[in-house]
Amino acid sequence: MVNRGAAALDDPVGASLLGHHAHLARRLGRAAAYLPGVATFAAVTAGPDASEWADLGRLLGRGQVADMFSSPATPPPDWEPVFVLEGRQMIWSGGGRSGRPSAGTGTTGVVELGADSVPEMLGLVGRARPGPFWPRTRELGTYLGVRDHGRLVAMAGERLRPPGWTEISAVCTAPEARGRGHAARLVGALVARITARGERPFLHVAEANSGAIALYERLGFETRKQVTFRGFRTP
Ligand SMILES: CC(C)(COP(=O)(O)OP(=O)(O)OC[C@H]1O[C@@H](n2cnc3c(N)ncnc32)[C@H](O)[C@@H]1OP(=O)(O)O)[C@@H](O)C(=O)NCCC(=O)NCCS
Repeated sequence: MVNRGAAALDDPVGASLLGHHAHLARRLGRAAAYLPGVATFAAVTAGPDASEWADLGRLLGRGQVADMFSSPATPPPDWEPVFVLEGRQMIWSGGGRSGRPSAGTGTTGVVELGADSVPEMLGLVGRARPGPFWPRTRELGTYLGVRDHGRLVAMAGERLRPPGWTEISAVCTAPEARGRGHAARLVGALVARITARGERPFLHVAEANSGAIALYERLGFETRKQVTFRGFRTP
């Protein structure tokens, strides 16, 4: 495990909503959440009191899912748990394994995905299931893709942006196009973009996704900490 100068990574949603993604945020008091369609993630400050949870409840509305991402904050008892998922946060350390170039396997065939690609991106996500992705998620950063005869077969993009860091997310390859290095190339291209502007890449992955974890380790990512993703229904 590593833990270097990364305090912003302990509240990546809140830090993004207050900073780089403020234009995509809705806020009430100290509670904050992404706009609908961008992301379901919400944030409270460290050690939130009852009034802050009440603000978040009002912000999201009754009976809505408060997707608290990796926040360890526990809401009041009448916030019903909706999901719990074990995962890990990994940060790019600049190294790589197996004697291969780390996250730098060339960018041949990698293209930037514009707003007109969103229907295809949603289609690919529906088949490859990399995790949450919504119609406006693309607005969080740059999304890259690989096309095969014009058809989108792989993608990856930038999501959370706490100060000094950019999260790589939505890494996925269509089942029939796997094992050809598309994901490695896309992650490599994103790492290059992120480091070129002086930031460090990080990402989150489900603990059960051992294939993706192995891929990320080979590309130079290492585990910073275990996290638990949790969602609750607002009263
Ligand atoms: C994980 C995923 C993106 C990899 O895509 P890909 O384009 O096949 O990846 P690459 O071809 O770049 O694979 C790179 C290496 O990882 C290995 N690898 C990829 N997926 C793997 C898996 N599920 N299990 C074990 N190894 C895997 C490949 O064998 C390859 O190794 P090699 O180069 O030594 O042969 C793809 O399997 C996928 O879309 N999975 C479902 C969505 C997902 O889980 N995304 C990650 C969310 S955090």
